[in-house]
Amino acid sequence: MATNKQDFPLHDYYKDIYKTYDLVNRVFTFGQDKNWRKRAVSAMLENAPAKILDVCTGTGDLILEISENCPAGTSLCGYDFSAEMLEKAKEKSRDKEYSIEFTEGDVASMPYSDGTFDTAGISFGLRNLVYENSNADLHLSELNRVLKPGGRFVVLESSKPSNQIWRFFNNIYLQLILPYLGGILSGNLKAYKYLAKSSKNYYTREEMGKILEKAGFRQIRSQSLFLGSVMLMLAEKQVN
Ligand SMILES: C[S@@+](CC[C@H](N)C(=O)[O-])C[C@H]1O[C@@H](n2cnc3c(N)ncnc32)[C@H](O)[C@@H]1O
Repeated sequence: MATNKQDFPLHDYYKDIYKTYDLVNRVFTFGQDKNWRKRAVSAMLENAPAKILDVCTGTGDLILEISENCPAGTSLCGYDFSAEMLEKAKEKSRDKEYSIEFTEGDVASMPYSDGTFDTAGISFGLRNLVYENSNADLHLSELNRVLKPGGRFVVLESSKPSNQIWRFFNNIYLQLILPYLGGILSGNLKAYKYLAKSSKNYYTREEMGKILEKAGFRQIRSQSLFLGSVMLMLAEKQVN
């Protein structure tokens, strides 16, 4: 199933940082990541989906937030290629009433039939799938394939702010603070250097919109969060 070997050891990074991943997220975003996920979840539930996929679920924060807000009977799946991150997600979901199906595998070849899901979401994972990734097109086409025509796709991701002054401060934070703070907290400086580099060089909302359109998504809308350092993108799979 997990066929894709990255050009760089992304998979291995998560093996190292999974223990402190949640803590580092809270610190990096000044606790705001929880609110951003809540907004993503509202967007994901808008079309009253019966089957939901959280791609690159990691330690499960997005799918857990969904489980607390969706109607009983909704089918919830979390998908990720890191066994360690998934183990954390399972641990966190253990005492919850809702049952979530966690599956290990690569987005490059997902084990779901075409058109399985009404809604798919991805929080802070799309960057991993497309930035300097030789499988970028494959990842995007898989994300499109597993959605029903007209199904909703929601992306929460870091973004390049359009305001030049804010972009300057954002870049300082990403270059000089985030990698070292992340390195200290997680013990893996390399992983957080990658994270900072990919965030700094990542797309604007307009660029991301074009990427989604090329991948077969329509009705693309976006919201800027945290003065444009983060974006929330909403799209629908094209109906042929
Ligand atoms: C930055 S974390 C985001 C985790 C979570 N969604 C969140 O909101 O915190 C990115 C996740 O994507 C996963 N990932 C990266 N590339 C992947 C791929 N090609 N297939 C499956 N999972 C992947 C990593 O294992 C990691 O758990």
